[in-house]
Amino acid sequence: LKHFLSIEGLSRELLTEILDTAESFAGMSEHQVKKVPLLRGKTIVNLFFENSTRTRATFELAAARLSADVMNMNIATSSTAKGESLLDTIHNLEAMHVDMFVVRHALSGAAHFIAQHVAPHISVINAGDGQHAHPTQAMLDMYTIRQYKQRFEGLKVAIVGDILHSRVARSQIVALNTLGVAEVRVIAPKTLLPAQVASMGVVAVHDMDEGLDDVDVVIMLRLQKERMNSAFLPSESEFFRCFGLTEARLQRAKPDAVVMHPGPINRGVEIASSVADGPQSVILQQVSNGISVRMAIMSMTMSGQGGTA
Ligand code: CP
Repeated sequence: LKHFLSIEGLSRELLTEILDTAESFAGMSEHQVKKVPLLRGKTIVNLFFENSTRTRATFELAAARLSADVMNMNIATSSTAKGESLLDTIHNLEAMHVDMFVVRHALSGAAHFIAQHVAPHISVINAGDGQHAHPTQAMLDMYTIRQYKQRFEGLKVAIVGDILHSRVARSQIVALNTLGVAEVRVIAPKTLLPAQVASMGVVAVHDMDEGLDDVDVVIMLRLQKERMNSAFLPSESEFFRCFGLTEARLQRAKPDAVVMHPGPINRGVEIASSVADGPQSVILQQVSNGISVRMAIMSMTMSGQGGTA
């Protein structure tokens, strides 16, 4: 790996190697080993042009545990506000001898664009670009599924809600199909599904109760209002009535089904509090897993481990 920009084109073997590497880092912290020197002397810049809680914090913690120096750019107070272009910002940071950029941007393709323009020794990790991809989130979700289900083969996974605007869903769908699950089911109103849904390797269902039947994993998504035209915003109460995950609805899934959500959650909009905080929820475990999965991806890109994908 040189950069980590999307899941597309990555092999099942490479995804499994990332999960195995993350597992070794997780095992390390269980034994109270908090830091390894793998990225000592390396400088990582977190460049978040969009808001973030989980992704930014876990990238920062992961970098610290790999002994890297980390700089969090505050975009709101940076010279971006004075009209400096994205590339000028990047080239100025490069002049400070940076080794890796972790980039979140509202424009799809921003991380790819940066990767094409940085010096050859620099790695770029996509921390979410527009509606396109959020590949490290998808990998921590795959890690969580493997942690609870021990396998991918034979699993039925439902992804529920605003698929249309979700970069998380796009990356999850590619990862789940690459890792060989039995079925990826998307449950959403037609208005919140992409036009190309038929070619995405999913089964589309528009009825929530029918869609949850017999699934092993339920992944809930929030309405991405920041990417919607305000004239077409769905009513939150109507959305919850039709597609909200309640305890009663969850009973349609397998008894040992796990409930996931990439966060931030909107209680009472896509998920009831009793489910988000309930016994089948692994939402906070997903957050914890983000640290070891991001450690794996950062160390593998820096070392070139896993080939040149
Ligand atoms: N899942 C996720 O990307 O959360 P943040 O926006 O808080 O980083």
